[in-house]
Amino acid sequence: MEQQNREDVLILAIETSCDETAASVVKNGREVLSNIIYTQIALHTKYGGVVPEIASRKHIEKINQVVEGALEEAGVALRDITAIAVTYGPGLVGALLVGVSEAKAISFATGIPLIGVHHISGHISANYIEYRELEPPFVCLVASGGHSHLVVVRDYGEYEIIGRTRDDAAGEAFDKVARAIGLGYPGGPKIDKLSKEGNPDAIPFPRAKVGENEYDFSFSGLKSAVLNYLNSCRMKGEEINQADVAASFQKAVIDVLVEHSLHAVKEYGFDKFAIAGGVASNTSLREAFEKECAERGITFYHPSPVYCTDNAAMIGAAGYYEYVKGVRHGYDLNAVPNLKL
Ligand code: KG4
Ligand code: ZN
Repeated sequence: MEQQNREDVLILAIETSCDETAASVVKNGREVLSNIIYTQIALHTKYGGVVPEIASRKHIEKINQVVEGALEEAGVALRDITAIAVTYGPGLVGALLVGVSEAKAISFATGIPLIGVHHISGHISANYIEYRELEPPFVCLVASGGHSHLVVVRDYGEYEIIGRTRDDAAGEAFDKVARAIGLGYPGGPKIDKLSKEGNPDAIPFPRAKVGENEYDFSFSGLKSAVLNYLNSCRMKGEEINQADVAASFQKAVIDVLVEHSLHAVKEYGFDKFAIAGGVASNTSLREAFEKECAERGITFYHPSPVYCTDNAAMIGAAGYYEYVKGVRHGYDLNAVPNLKL
């Protein structure tokens, strides 16, 4: 049994917004005592993407097991838990509902306070786990399957979105392009791997400029350019070099993410920059930011891949700061699929 001080805050966190059933115990917002993730990826692969109905059903099957696993691995019991944090949006409504219902049920049965957490706030807070010295303010790029946001983190849980995607999220573009070149789902990690064998300068795919807001992103034009390129090769009977397409596409995404992000860091006068979300585990993206930040004297924060893709530890970190601020939710807490940050 893990020895805890009376003043330690232990958060039991639950995350079920998409296709990962996850639970974690986090101590004082920064120390992960357990991090259990049951990933459903294999189940959805044959459909080429997440099937919401299947995701919800699998969450129901797995949630108790995952929560019990998190408590066990942390060596704690429910009576040691200070608060329960749960993702209540954004995400798939049926998937979110499983986690929210589980958290409400445990809270109701035990009297442990309930705290609803925003999924993106969780992704950003993954950086607090990895870097115990990191404090706001800083700029964070959140790039996942559903979101591409450039966020100024003013304080814990206080966010200002300064840029967002006008169409596809970065991860969505990775997934769609991967499908088009026959790599399957999920596309991000596959493109990441294959790109290492390709030439990133082989095909000059466009870098989108988006109208008035210099921090906004757009990836649908790039996706169309890749599809057009593939079509034209097929029509001309030319062989497609998958690795070159992957590397050139990936480079186009990274160039835009790096340029917009570091422009924001400079304009807002910060010297700290963090990344978060599934796409943040991309190796070339991390290398590019590493290099560019070093040249500009900016400290670069990047969570390990396991804390970039969906997990509950990040929800525990975000939940801790909500707890400290005095946020508590009632049993009317509901899943909000399009929850605003
Ligand atoms: O944050 P996440 O696990 O779920 C959402 O909240 O969306 O992100 C999943 C997304 C998927 O689109 C996946 O293809 C992408 O992150 N991804 C990557 C990599 N690993 C995951 N994209 C690029 N490179 C990777 N290594
Ligand atoms: Zn996510």
